[in-house]
Amino acid sequence: MRLQRCHALLIEPRETREIDLDALVAGQPRLLARRRWLALAAHLDAETELDAAALALLGAVSPQDWTDRDELLAAGHDPATLDALHAAGLLIAQGQDDAVARADRSVRDGHWRGLSAVAHRHLRWRGIDTRTAHADDGVDADGALAAKRLARMGPPPPVAQARCAPGLRRALPPAQPGGLDALLARRVTCRNFDPARPLPLATLASMLSRVYGARAHSEVSGVPVLKKNVPSAGGLHPVEAYLLVRRVEGLAPGLYHYHAVDHALEPLRELDVADSAALAERFVAHQAWFIEAPVQVVLVARFARTFWKYRNHAKAWRAINLDAGHLSQLQYLVATELGLAAFITAAINEGEIEDAFGLDPMAEGVLAVTGFGHRAGAMDQLEFDPLASVWPAPSPAAPA
Ligand SMILES: Cc1cc2nc3c(=O)[nH]c(=O)nc-3n(C[C@H](O)[C@H](O)[C@H](O)COP(=O)(O)O)c2cc1C
Repeated sequence: MRLQRCHALLIEPRETREIDLDALVAGQPRLLARRRWLALAAHLDAETELDAAALALLGAVSPQDWTDRDELLAAGHDPATLDALHAAGLLIAQGQDDAVARADRSVRDGHWRGLSAVAHRHLRWRGIDTRTAHADDGVDADGALAAKRLARMGPPPPVAQARCAPGLRRALPPAQPGGLDALLARRVTCRNFDPARPLPLATLASMLSRVYGARAHSEVSGVPVLKKNVPSAGGLHPVEAYLLVRRVEGLAPGLYHYHAVDHALEPLRELDVADSAALAERFVAHQAWFIEAPVQVVLVARFARTFWKYRNHAKAWRAINLDAGHLSQLQYLVATELGLAAFITAAINEGEIEDAFGLDPMAEGVLAVTGFGHRAGAMDQLEFDPLASVWPAPSPAAPA
């Protein structure tokens, strides 16, 4: 048998603290430090614990050339360790054609930078409920959570960096007022959607066209490119919109993909009302304040678009994430101009979103969930509106 090491692998020496049960029984509760070597591969969700023999073996196998199993055994490596690493998917056999080998090939052929690939794979969530797992990160109406956080963590770093004494600063003239100012002032992240107001189809269409649609379709030196209302690294526009539609007039609740050139929705799956609500909740990791948005737009990166040009590139994955920010800000502004309100969240269950839309995370990666709709008449959940641009009175405290 000939073997190859998987393409992208990070070996992390991790220390965790656990309750020392023996000490607890003896009435002396204390935490025990546990140190392990963990293998995080870009083609596997699972982490694999390694011992010294496994570590040495992984270091001895090329990720590019094929190494004979007998050669490795002759060099003193343990056959059981070798079989265990193969079973875990960290070693791949020549001719292997199962899901693990295909997943490794997809990362390899996708021109991923190893570190970015491992980070992308292993920073995803599945089954996270922020109400319990990340309750302290939350936003509450009366600011009690923020007060507790302040007491526990002390004050945060200053809101703006000072690099010289105040007296040495060169004061600038005030910004010249422009037509955009009123719109910018009304951009407030929405955490109170009106569950009774569906979105007209024409409004959804305007949003999609202006934020995600192609303005022009042309060629640069023989390469087909799109012009959109947002900038994109390399002009490649890898980020596309996948929709969870809950309440849009004339559109069945369900999952859709937006085709940026044809300005059309591609229906993927119809959902009944209960299923669409349950998915909306799971997508945003149970942040209750986003669930009533009539539409969620999942920002999904087709990595092959960017990695076609930027192969194994240290900046490519970061650039894609930056692209997503531009789309979201434009969506906020277009929504505001249309009398709607928008949100973005990174606290999302990527795994469940991939399942729902049938996405391979290393080919089409979920970057963020956004959404928009009509704002409710009352602020039950805190929004950050210190200038009272949207709500009549200033909100009591800054949110998370
Ligand atoms: C990348 C990103 C991730 C965010 N994630 C969350 C989130 O998980 N939950 C949430 O309620 N708000 C989230 N927000 C919204 C911020 O909390 C919000 O922008 C901030 O409080 C400032 O309020 P403003 O947008 O109204 O100015 C996120 C914003 C950004 C840009």
